[in-house]
Amino acid sequence: MRLILLSLALSLIVCCENTSKKPAEALAVRGLVTDSAMVVSAREEASRIGVEILKQGGNAYDAAVAVEFALAVSYPYAGNLAGGGFLVYRTQYGERGTIDFREKAPLAAHRDMYLDDTGNYIRDKSSKGALAVGVPGTVAGLFEIHHKLGSLPMEVLIRPAIELARKGVPVTAHQLEHLDKFRDEIERISGESSLYTAEYRVGDTIVNSALANTLERISQNGVAEFYRGETATILVDYIQSKGGIISMEDMAIYEPQFRKPMEFSYKDLNIITMPLPSSGGVCMAQILGMLEAYPLVNYGHNSIKYIQVLAEAERRAYADRSYYLGDPDFVDIPVDSLTHPDYLKSRMESFSFDRATPSSDVRPGGVTTYESAETTHFSIIDQFGNAAALTTTLNSGYGSKLYISELGLFLNNQMDDFSAKPGEPNIYGLLGGESNAIEPQKRMLSSMTPTIIEKEGKLWMVVGTPGGATIITTVVQTILNVYEFNMHMQQAVNVPRFHHQWLPDALRYEKDRFSPELIAELEALGYPENLTADPVIGKVDAILILPNGKLEGGADPRGDDKSVGF
Ligand code: GLY
Repeated sequence: MRLILLSLALSLIVCCENTSKKPAEALAVRGLVTDSAMVVSAREEASRIGVEILKQGGNAYDAAVAVEFALAVSYPYAGNLAGGGFLVYRTQYGERGTIDFREKAPLAAHRDMYLDDTGNYIRDKSSKGALAVGVPGTVAGLFEIHHKLGSLPMEVLIRPAIELARKGVPVTAHQLEHLDKFRDEIERISGESSLYTAEYRVGDTIVNSALANTLERISQNGVAEFYRGETATILVDYIQSKGGIISMEDMAIYEPQFRKPMEFSYKDLNIITMPLPSSGGVCMAQILGMLEAYPLVNYGHNSIKYIQVLAEAERRAYADRSYYLGDPDFVDIPVDSLTHPDYLKSRMESFSFDRATPSSDVRPGGVTTYESAETTHFSIIDQFGNAAALTTTLNSGYGSKLYISELGLFLNNQMDDFSAKPGEPNIYGLLGGESNAIEPQKRMLSSMTPTIIEKEGKLWMVVGTPGGATIITTVVQTILNVYEFNMHMQQAVNVPRFHHQWLPDALRYEKDRFSPELIAELEALGYPENLTADPVIGKVDAILILPNGKLEGGADPRGDDKSVGF
């Protein structure tokens, strides 16, 4: 009887967990499980649109295009037309690749464009308003994905987003929080009140007719509409009227890039992820490579020793990141050396469980840059076995805060991901950030880490997250949660996360999700708590293939994220 009551209680908790605010780490929470196909994204509307495309016979890449257009409508905080991103794919035949549609610096950009006459960095210039905007890559990226990998006509993939923009999107509590936080700034920087500066309540509907019209034109005229047509003219005139430097030539010459994925193994996993200009692949290979020798399971999930060893591996990887990494089309980066097992082994030789390694002892290093956490990721597996991991961003929430009412969209502030003042000695006297200095046409370094994992040669997981610099450590923890600690996919997404990034020399914990005793004990070992950073670390959307071949979704309860499938 007691057993029956216990299992009844557990099943009640499990059934309600996805909608509850309660931490789920104590429970073996299962996400949505389906037989053949799944889409997990930041909004239910977008996940449903992706699944509808799959049901019409489309593949994962058709669905990815439709989902990203739908996120531009339903999640303007990070979903976008005027931002950039990365796709990592693995087809049903095992072919793999990436498409890089990261923004680029305009032709008129220059290394010191955010410094004043005396050489001081003016942070607002790189993060807000027209000078912060990088040449957008998203629309070109989506057309390239469709061209290379899609199967349905592009009009079919754009149509649901147009209808959604005309029908309207309900305001959720999370969205209202975002709008309330940024309303005044959007109005001040854009210089006018607009659709996203009006007062809303939860449950109100936002209809974006201007965006529907923009999407209609893209659907009719193709990619040229956004880069050379009426939309490009409106966009460039607007940016220039606000003091920006993006020209029609910048738009016309923008091209996405196919890149060979970064691939590496962790035990019997083969990890396929984003190469440079994302730092994600290199840093993740470094962190997991440094961890491989440690018996993580023996330490226990989120135990002191577990947090220590992860933090130390992260510290070392982020020190290298800030010094070495940048756009590989512009700088030579010693990726093979940085990820070589001998190098990674030697990096951890200075680590002891007795005491933290001060970041000042971890070299090489360089200046740190602020990184925004507001990006969005979605994962898709289709009924044919194709997989798509796509992360896209405006950089900050609502990007530069410039909203073009005529087009119904926000502009990115991706220029802030460059090192605005490279070569300046940091607090440890080290020069850094040169690899990520601003140059015309260069891509700014990213942390976005869309990832697909194979186990024993078969598709096993699709995973990614927003979170700026915390993206990489969030993806690492999610993989370890499933692989080392046998968690269900949803549970692996739900459990608390922490983060170390070399500088500041402090650990970030998700707020109120780690015990004060554990935090104090780590502090005594030389790991102070970083109290200044955002309390949320990542917002993971992932899919796991279970041993019986079914799919389990992990949709992050930290947002409105949703798994939908069949
Ligand atoms: N702007 C966030 C990233 O690219 O990592």
